[in-house]
Amino acid sequence: MIPGRMIPESVLAALKLACQESPHDHDMRLHLADLLLQDGQAAAALEQAKVVLSGEPDHVQALRLAAWAADEAGETQTAARYHRLHDALTGVIQGAAPSTADTPPKAVLAGPHADSPFEDEPLVDSAADQRWDLQTPRVTLADVAGMDEVKRRLELALLAPLSNPELLKLFGGTLRGGLLLYGPPGCGKTFMARAVAGELSARFINVGLSDVLDMYLGQSERNLSEVFALARRKAPCVLFLDEVDALGRRRSQMRHSAANVVGQLLAELDGAKASNEGVFVLAATNSPWDVDPALRRPGRFDRTLLVLPPDLEARRHLLELQVRSRPVEGLDLPALASRTEGFSGADIGHLVASATELAMEDAIKQGKVRPIRQVDFLRALKDVKPSTRAWFETARNAAQFANDNGEYDDLLSYLRGKSSGR
Ligand SMILES: Nc1ncnc2c1ncn2[C@@H]1O[C@H](COP(=O)(O)OP(=O)(O)OP(=O)(O)O)[C@@H](O)[C@H]1O
Ligand SMILES: [Mg+2]
Repeated sequence: MIPGRMIPESVLAALKLACQESPHDHDMRLHLADLLLQDGQAAAALEQAKVVLSGEPDHVQALRLAAWAADEAGETQTAARYHRLHDALTGVIQGAAPSTADTPPKAVLAGPHADSPFEDEPLVDSAADQRWDLQTPRVTLADVAGMDEVKRRLELALLAPLSNPELLKLFGGTLRGGLLLYGPPGCGKTFMARAVAGELSARFINVGLSDVLDMYLGQSERNLSEVFALARRKAPCVLFLDEVDALGRRRSQMRHSAANVVGQLLAELDGAKASNEGVFVLAATNSPWDVDPALRRPGRFDRTLLVLPPDLEARRHLLELQVRSRPVEGLDLPALASRTEGFSGADIGHLVASATELAMEDAIKQGKVRPIRQVDFLRALKDVKPSTRAWFETARNAAQFANDNGEYDDLLSYLRGKSSGR
């Protein structure tokens, strides 16, 4: 929010009208509230935030906006109430119990993890814990477009055993090794990992390995042990290690031997010092061929899952998901899907945002609101280009070179299919 900025009346009028037409579009209403607040109309902003909160009382962004707006409007007590709710939900309040909204149900993991120590969880996260990106995702696999093969394999490797503890016992009791998601940027690796956590009603910790690595002696190891400790305390928890290739690449750049860090990671994965029950580690990378070989040995990240750009049907589905909450008219989604070959999920997000901007721009120019139309998408398509091609160019060589034991067969066969025009 940039307070004190004049917002053109036409923009506010356009947004108000759009909110009337799509009363359940909370993102748009909060955008309006934000602009009203910037424009100095705090009371009106508060009203809009309240509308969102009446439908979604735990909407964190709406609570934050409501608190700011009430502050600005001089409603100190109301502001304090919204601040308290916001802080309790985001877990930053000192000395207060975490809000129930932030505590996942024991649900699916009742089987093998029935004694998971929720009750022993400290009431307040320590300052060290707050350094990490701990989330309680609401998305589930149903929110992931396409990726049927990835879903099937995750189901087999992780979800089915967890929801059928008897089956797990029958086959030896523990889940073996981690899964390594790989593929071009923006195609949903992080999104998928978050959805797995949502599916398990588990917490989610998103760790970029480059954030863990520290050039000072011993600090990387301490960071790793801290984040694993947090994951164990928050179990059930999906610990998502992103950019695991950073460990391989940094070997030569780090001041002390990266072998210590790899060793520490392996020890944490093996649960050498503490039980990893209820902690599910997923890893991701854009370049699996750069991942330290020690991490790829059996029982570690030995199984790769290729996350490809969405196919035609998945692109149609993604477009549908993205435009669902926006005012649109006469869109031919199948036609748009067929014109977005090679687009990642993130590219499709950019396309929809860009078409929306064009429609807004036109609405402001004409002085009246109009929905987003096919023509806006066609214009946006001139600017938004698929971002995955460069990755496939590099990946082709790397995969051929590193495919001794066939681990990149699926990627190479996808590339062969592409070049033969299938
Ligand atoms: N299959 C999908 N279904 C729904 N949304 C998707 C899908 N793929 C991508 N997205 C959307 O695109 C965004 C970017 O995807 P995400 O960050 O998961 O990609 P990534 O593979 O982790 O990329 P990177 O390699 O850059 O980390 C997501 O936040 C999500 O909104
Ligand atoms: Mg990612």
